[in-house]
Amino acid sequence: MPVPVIVLNFGHSVLKSLDDYTNAASEIYRRYRMGQNVVAVTSAQGDQTDVLMAEALRVGPEGTAKNLPELIQLGERRSAALLALALERVGAPAFVRQARDLGLQAKGPHTDAELIDLDVQQLQEDLKNHDIVVMPGFVGIGEDDRPSLLGQGGADYTALYVAQKLGVSAILLKDVDGVYEHDPREAGPAPKRYSEISWEDAKRRADVLIAPKALSFAMENALEFEVGAPGLPMLTRIGSKTGALSLPLAPKKLKVAMMGAGVVGGGVYRRIAAQPTRFEIVKIMVRSVSKYIDQGYLPDELTDNFEAIIAAKPDIFIDVSGPIEPALSFTKKMLSLGVHVVSANKQAIAEGGQDLIDFAKANDAILAFSSAAGGGMPVLEMCSRERGRIKRVEALLNGTTNYMLDAMSTGKSYAEALKEAQDKGFAEADPSSDVNGADAAAKIRLVALLGFGKAISLDDISRDTIENFSPKAPPKGARKRVAICANNEGGFKTSLELQDLPLDNFIAQATGEEAHAIFYFEDGDVYRIRGKGAGRWPTTESVMADLFDISATYF
Ligand code: HSE
Repeated sequence: MPVPVIVLNFGHSVLKSLDDYTNAASEIYRRYRMGQNVVAVTSAQGDQTDVLMAEALRVGPEGTAKNLPELIQLGERRSAALLALALERVGAPAFVRQARDLGLQAKGPHTDAELIDLDVQQLQEDLKNHDIVVMPGFVGIGEDDRPSLLGQGGADYTALYVAQKLGVSAILLKDVDGVYEHDPREAGPAPKRYSEISWEDAKRRADVLIAPKALSFAMENALEFEVGAPGLPMLTRIGSKTGALSLPLAPKKLKVAMMGAGVVGGGVYRRIAAQPTRFEIVKIMVRSVSKYIDQGYLPDELTDNFEAIIAAKPDIFIDVSGPIEPALSFTKKMLSLGVHVVSANKQAIAEGGQDLIDFAKANDAILAFSSAAGGGMPVLEMCSRERGRIKRVEALLNGTTNYMLDAMSTGKSYAEALKEAQDKGFAEADPSSDVNGADAAAKIRLVALLGFGKAISLDDISRDTIENFSPKAPPKGARKRVAICANNEGGFKTSLELQDLPLDNFIAQATGEEAHAIFYFEDGDVYRIRGKGAGRWPTTESVMADLFDISATYF
């Protein structure tokens, strides 16, 4: 099955601060989880290019030095590295490639060159192996084998060039969510927005927003592309025709209540606080208010009483707590009030099963629980998308176990390995469910439900425990505990199996808390996905992606 690819350009206006790399990584993650592979083309952060230019002028010769591009390209390269790091934090599989690695050739003046070639096969191979490729924009390799700059707005141009060579679509991400009658940041009445505009009209209306060189390239090659802002669902399509103007849609600020403020809750809290135009935390329910005040939460935000959560009238309730109850009852209550629920609580959702999903629908509320299995690995998203086609899923569904088995393979004791997994925030508050398989079993129930439409109970799942595991021999290859759901000839079967896998096996290649999954489809297709299966930031990212999906329904 060919995987859809999209090229995203992150302009300097959306990379103003280091936190913006987190937002850029989110944008990529949201597409990755929808099943897209991404080429991310970076601009330099904020005014980095000017800073580097001033440095060049201070040290180098007068005029346009041949070695100027060597220095200036560092702005885009730094951005590419920062973006890859931000992606790695959330467990998204990013790989950085430079212009030279990708045979991105340029000709003409070395500060205003034109792109003339790209090693498409190399880039496709990289996408196959890594899903997400990050590359600096604004630079190609010139005729004298030195880097050449591509002129003003060269990162836009790079993105469009790469998209054209790959035959895929591109989105240029800016601090404005599309093309307007005039710059919406100017004083005066709010301008209207184009949902589509022709290349010619865009040249007249948006030559500040989109680099003229990039627009000319698109027009000459009849390349349609889109312009938008990170995190906002609307885009302007630039192509052969101009459509009607409409009033811009502003996001509704959604009130969010949370239950739980532990490893994942703490991450979600921070990320929501960084999105003040989209979300506002109205209440957080915790067991001990005083403990969380000591951790820096505001007394007004905290409660140990569910009635206070209801009274805060949230639009969204986030459950990042552990046990089934009271989470399941509270989730039902919120859904009955029409409040959307985002849940990372696999035990509660697995227990609620299809009835809970139906209950949400009946109450016109969204129930999203991508983070309940796989941490940041989009295993449930894949299950929902491909339901009906899936024959077998093999997946690592417990980060703690994966981490521990790895650590024990390198000579650590069971107790040391468990302590490390707890310290890193992978294990549940009571880690027995991680090691005895109950945590993975709840996730298997979710995979069975979403991927195969099967309601199974805990007892249906045969499981190997690693509780007090004391291996008699070192693993042959890599030791993993693999969750399996399969439509066999003898019927639907689920299991959690301790296996020694050959090192070239895709599942075996996940290390530490990494999670890999292989989907075998009825028609013979095989699809591999990866991410980090546990930990604050990967799981938080998955929760945030659900929040953004809900937010998108309010435009
Ligand atoms: N304790 C879980 C794990 C957390 O280790 O996978 C993520 O669900």
